[in-house]
Amino acid sequence: MDRGAAGAALAGEQDARPVQVRITNLNKTFQRNKESVHVLHDISLEVEEGELLVLLGPSGCGKTTLLRCLVGLEKPGEGRIELGERTVVDAERRVFVQPNRRDVAMVFQNYALWPHMKVAANVAYPLKARRMKDEIKRGRVQEVLDVVQCGHLADRYPPELSGGQQQRISLARALAPRPALLLLDEPLSNLDALLRIDLRAQLRLLHREIGFTGVYVTHDQEEALALGTRVAVMKEGRFEQIGKPGEVYHRPATEYVADFLGARNRMALEVAADGTATINGVPVPGFVRPGFTGSYALRMRDGDLTVRPAGATTVDDRRHWVAGARLLEVLPAGDHAEHVVVMGDSTLFVDVPAALGELEPDQDVEIGLDPDHVLCYDVDGRLVDDWAAIR
Ligand SMILES: Nc1ncnc2c1ncn2[C@@H]1O[C@H](COP(=O)(O)OP(=O)(O)O)[C@@H](O)[C@H]1O
Ligand SMILES: [Mg+2]
Repeated sequence: MDRGAAGAALAGEQDARPVQVRITNLNKTFQRNKESVHVLHDISLEVEEGELLVLLGPSGCGKTTLLRCLVGLEKPGEGRIELGERTVVDAERRVFVQPNRRDVAMVFQNYALWPHMKVAANVAYPLKARRMKDEIKRGRVQEVLDVVQCGHLADRYPPELSGGQQQRISLARALAPRPALLLLDEPLSNLDALLRIDLRAQLRLLHREIGFTGVYVTHDQEEALALGTRVAVMKEGRFEQIGKPGEVYHRPATEYVADFLGARNRMALEVAADGTATINGVPVPGFVRPGFTGSYALRMRDGDLTVRPAGATTVDDRRHWVAGARLLEVLPAGDHAEHVVVMGDSTLFVDVPAALGELEPDQDVEIGLDPDHVLCYDVDGRLVDDWAAIR
């Protein structure tokens, strides 16, 4: 018997690190103007020790509320939260452990440092409650300040520091007590673009070095893919998909996830019983495999589409050309140009490498589709496999 793959899978399971966070059937409802707003719907999630799980979703989908439930600032109406071996929330059994007894630290978008306290005092603050010798405390403060490369700022006051420095100090303050769980709520959103990318890379390095367990909230897909060991995509208080960054990026389980992760171009695919396929009403022979029928939505990223003048005969074995589109506008963007194309009900954004040259706006064009880079969804918005005729 070949025990290779199964044996390895089993060993992998045994080697799995302990679960640091276990959320089970969590529900949270707010009262607003005598109406109740159901914000978290039956959320279940496990975060392993050493994982940096990213919660990704648009504003208002419940990300902050979930973090606030974890840290203990909100009381869920239903469900359980376990941190390591400890149950900190069990709504049914009326268990609710106060925030200061949870060993969870949180970093906020707006730094939240005390302006009248020196940096070192800010960082030492969460150690106050702990019975720790002063010299050990001082050592710990210096250590975490060094970790975030701010050791030289210990005697400064927060208002004297840049946004990026202040956010690094907030991170040091959160790390100082070595919490079992670190929560980060859009910590980079208040920083300008370049600094954000710089700090993102530093945070990733830091996670690799000290391996804290974290839940990181963002609405920025790039940040999520860059930082997450796994990414949980949220929609209206529910998880749409949880997976490794590569999985959610390359195989978005639902149309919503595809859209959120950059596949913003949408076209309608109809396949009649006789196998004739149309895209936005235009026949596309040989595009879908035989036996495949029904109504679907196709989703593509800007760089996965291409465009050529109507009637051109570019040879490209992989691509299917769909006629009946019109080029509205071309926006140069350095190494590529964004072509805005209208085709029936769809407005499409097509990135063409600058080397291939720009087309003139206001002309009829054809759209090139490569089935390997087209995502197909059924009428319920679920990913469909094996729909393409050629692969
Ligand atoms: N204290 C509150 N009272 C009433 N509604 C709230 C409260 N906190 C959050 N909400 C609502 O819950 C929803 C989710 O909010 P939030 O968790 O802050 O979302 P996100 O962090 O994803 O932007 C929003 O509709 C918000 O208006
Ligand atoms: Mg929020």
